Amino acid sequence: MKAKVEESISYIRNLIGDFNPEIAIILGSGLGELAEEFKNKTKIKTEKIPNYPQPTVEGHAGNLVFGELNDVRVLGFQGRIHFYESGEIENVIYPVLVANELGVKILIVTNAAGGLNKNFKPGDLMVIADHINFMFLNPLLIFPQNLKRMNHPAYDDRLKKIAIETGIELGISIREGIYCGVRGPNYETPAEVEMLRKIGCDAVGMSTVPEVITANFLGMRVLGISCITNYAAGISKNKLSHEEVTAVASKVKNEFSLLIKEVIKKIKQIGI
Ligand code: HPA
Repeated sequence: MKAKVEESISYIRNLIGDFNPEIAIILGSGLGELAEEFKNKTKIKTEKIPNYPQPTVEGHAGNLVFGELNDVRVLGFQGRIHFYESGEIENVIYPVLVANELGVKILIVTNAAGGLNKNFKPGDLMVIADHINFMFLNPLLIFPQNLKRMNHPAYDDRLKKIAIETGIELGISIREGIYCGVRGPNYETPAEVEMLRKIGCDAVGMSTVPEVITANFLGMRVLGISCITNYAAGISKNKLSHEEVTAVASKVKNEFSLLIKEVIKKIKQIGI
């Protein structure tokens, strides 16, 4: 694995030179456009990077974008890889391994998620307070050590506070809650949704958990933001579709961009 990542890094380094991103952002379904706002961009197609796994889901472009956002050096991943695409956990965490090799210390993970909390509505942005791993997968099994440490909390308290305060300042409908990661690829049944709600989950999605576990293990600070794109199955009568998910995500992309840009600025000012 290490050799594979090193090969990817040497290709990337040839293109970006000694540019060192401070913050990496994994952009979820419909949220990839934020990277278009980066200044002095270098965009690298993932299909050109040796060993880089390819995203196959619509709404996931497949680029690494290096540049500056509010004067902070950032790396944006346009297009994430879900476990259900290949069944290979290595592919899912590959972007985090790349970010780590490039020296990134802060990871912002974003996703589209179904709302379980009945007070949430499509278009809300939810700061992830914590997660529940219902994927029954653990990426740390690929690392050689036997005993694995998890930071507590997995989602950095200071970053959460900044994101919530910023959301309120910007007048965005910002929530905080527990994200439940499931494997997919089908959406949940109403019975599963009811169970997840009862055990205390606020949102459900098919990503994020493996990346966050890995980032923690590698010593990064993590901020997670879910875009609530739909009421989870059974909460509303509407039939769910990937089109609905990307359409809602794309409707809130301006608020989402505003939030991320402001959060990044504050992280830099405070010096986390
Ligand atoms: N369930 C699982 N994943 C999702 C959903 C959902 O309702 N919405 C967006 N991603």
